This record gives sequence, C-alpha cells and structure tokens, in this order.
Amino acid sequence: MILCANFKANKTRQETRAYMAVVESFVSANAIEDTIMVFPPFTALEHISRNVLIGVQNGYPAANGAFTGEITLEQLEEFEIKTILIGHSERRHILGETQEQIAAKFRFFAQQGFAIVYCVGEPLEVREYGYDVLMEYINAQFVGIDLNYPDLIVAYEPVWAIGTGLTASNREIEEVHNALRQTISAPLLYGGSVKVDNAGDIMALANVDGVLVGSASLSANDFCTMIAQATELQ
Ligand code: PGA
Repeated sequence: MILCANFKANKTRQETRAYMAVVESFVSANAIEDTIMVFPPFTALEHISRNVLIGVQNGYPAANGAFTGEITLEQLEEFEIKTILIGHSERRHILGETQEQIAAKFRFFAQQGFAIVYCVGEPLEVREYGYDVLMEYINAQFVGIDLNYPDLIVAYEPVWAIGTGLTASNREIEEVHNALRQTISAPLLYGGSVKVDNAGDIMALANVDGVLVGSASLSANDFCTMIAQATELQ
C-alpha cells in the first residue's frame, strides 16, 4: 500500500519536526514496508535523510529563473526532493491551474525523474450527470499526461469529498478505480475525507492501492493508525 499525508498549508517547521519524529519512529519500530509519503509545506523542508519519502505539493516547471513566488527545481534539489503532487483539485479550482499548465509541470518533473502523485477528480455537479459524463471529465484530466511514466501514482479524489467529511461510498470508489484500471497500470490511490474510521475499508477495495489523506493526516497518531491498518491488509 501507499499512504500519503498531504499537509496543504498547515503546520510550521517545528510542528512538522514533531510530527516526523512520531511517524519515523512508528515506521522503524514496526518495520513498515508500505510506501509512506509526507507532503509538508515548503517552509518545513529539511535536508535530513528519513525513513519515509518527503514530497512537495507543487513546483514550477523550470530549473530556476524569473518566476516570482514560485519554487523551481534548483530549490527542490537542495533538499533532495524527488517526489511531487501534481494536479491537486485545490490547485486546479482555487489556484486556477489549467490542464495545459498541469501537463507542462508533469512533463518537466517526469523528465527530472520525480515520483509523481497525479490527482484527478470531479466536482459534485459533474457526478450528478452520471457515469459517462463523470468518466469523460476525469479522462480530460489525463490530457497531456504520460500514463506509462514509470514513477506515476494516480490519486482519484472527488472534489466534493475533499475536506468536507463526505467520503465517496465504496461502490463509487470501486466504479471509478475499476474504470481507471482499464487503461492505467500505475498504483491508484483514493483521496477525499479518508480517516481512521474508513481507511481500512477503502484500502481493502479492489484496485485501491493506497490513500491520499489531508485533514486526518495532520494527526501523526491517526496517520500511524492508518499505516497500521494497511499492514493488516497484507
Ligand atoms: P482531505 O483531503 O483528506 O482533507 O479530504 C484530501 C486531499 O486533498 O488530498
């Protein structure tokens, strides 16, 4: 299983240090073999080797240059970051990233050999139109994305389930994951209000290879409980 903690714009450097101490000792004490990834804010990055992967929530597709307010490859390399989230719905819908910009980011960071957690997902009004419209919407989010990229992980995150406490039902998750599995051999994560109470059931579904957790990952103990649930599934 692959378990990702996406902090979004939460936690300071000190809080992230305390969090990592808990998660790292849990991972080594329990000899966890699942893939654990943590995506802290840029300001909490540290140049320390860890027993879990640290990724970034965004990056600008350039080595360096005149891109005010952005973080480019050169700054990520300083921290030996090789893992990135691309296409998260908050970047698509709140920050206005277009599919073209997202695909350019994907191409750039794939060329640099990054592990890419690529997010797709539909808003509620799209889901209400039914399965065909839903899949058409999701497939459009793969335009310009190389589905054969070897370090690709895909996360299906319905927008209406992110940060709302509303989780997609197991049937809804399976329906989309089964459809994605027809064309994508990369691991498929589910995200959207995953928490201790539902993570085990979701990870047990067919074609679900892990979870991308936002709010509930902010508690190191809860995140460790979800990691323990993954190990029980093996
Ligand atoms: P959530 O966020 O777990 O708070 O719903 C998931 C995500 O946005 O990755």
